[in-house]
Amino acid sequence: MTIQWFPGHMAKARRQVTEKLKLVDIIIELVDARIPLSSRNPMIDEIINHKPRLVLLNKADMADPNMTQQWIAYFKDKGIVALAVNAQEGKGLTEIVQSCKVILKEKFDRMKAKGMRPRAIRAMIVGIPNVGKSTLINRLAKKNIAKTGNTPGVTKAQQWIKVGKELELLDTPGILWPKFEDEAVGYKLALTGAIKDTILNLQDIAVYGLRFLSTHYPNRLKDRYAFDTISEDVVELFDHIGKKRGCLVSGGHVDYDKTAEVIIRDIRGVQLGPITFDSVVDADSIDEENQESE
Ligand code: G4P
Repeated sequence: MTIQWFPGHMAKARRQVTEKLKLVDIIIELVDARIPLSSRNPMIDEIINHKPRLVLLNKADMADPNMTQQWIAYFKDKGIVALAVNAQEGKGLTEIVQSCKVILKEKFDRMKAKGMRPRAIRAMIVGIPNVGKSTLINRLAKKNIAKTGNTPGVTKAQQWIKVGKELELLDTPGILWPKFEDEAVGYKLALTGAIKDTILNLQDIAVYGLRFLSTHYPNRLKDRYAFDTISEDVVELFDHIGKKRGCLVSGGHVDYDKTAEVIIRDIRGVQLGPITFDSVVDADSIDEENQESE
């Protein structure tokens, strides 16, 4: 589902997460392991306001494993525990409860010292649309809970889902918006399927994907589309792929929109292998800029 985020929606979504913050001990922030930077809410630090957090790099099955390790190290450097998971297949989920316990150990020790009765850790899952929040909740709950949908503003009674004896999850995840003011972020969200019906031009998205692949994963492009060499000229790339994949219009010309669709489908469907579009180097330079402007 695609949501059009307007300032009113953003404010409401933010308010809903903020209201529920006081109900939980920890925030489980889901990001897409292929775009750990672009799939984060730009105001997440401000919104969760020092609440303990666990970051999950979901869809790790579709991300470049080396880059995933770099991202885990990046978060660790910032004092944040991050885990690579695959909610769809339920991989990496046992570490979630363990990590929450480690992160909250001091708080729970203090509660115990004050003579408070031991209780389960309370958590809320937050993340942008399509990052896998419902899939994860269903997996953790080990049953199929009706999908709540992404519509900001849907209210219903608060319910807790038990995950074993030690964790309780709010049944409705917090839905946050991505950083769409940045064009590159828009392309990455489109290429990973986070936004499907997009206002961005199909050919522009495919060009972004091709350029990224030719810089970072040229051999995958060569293998998939039988290139001898990868031309710098993107039109040549489109012509070659379009002909190979039969995306033609009458007269034998290449249909660029169809070719763009093929390229985007191949990237989203991991036909070009697991790809990570965001690098920790990008994140480091943004962090430095932020520090300088403070
Ligand atoms: P949301 O609640 O955050 O909006 O996301 P949701 O769980 O609906 O997940 C969005 C899509 O991502 C789903 O695919 C889901 O199966 C897929 N997904 C979730 N976690 C993982 C993961 O770890 N690995 C992979 N490969 N896929 C994952 P869908 O319903 O088929 O939708 P779509 O494929 O049409 O996007």
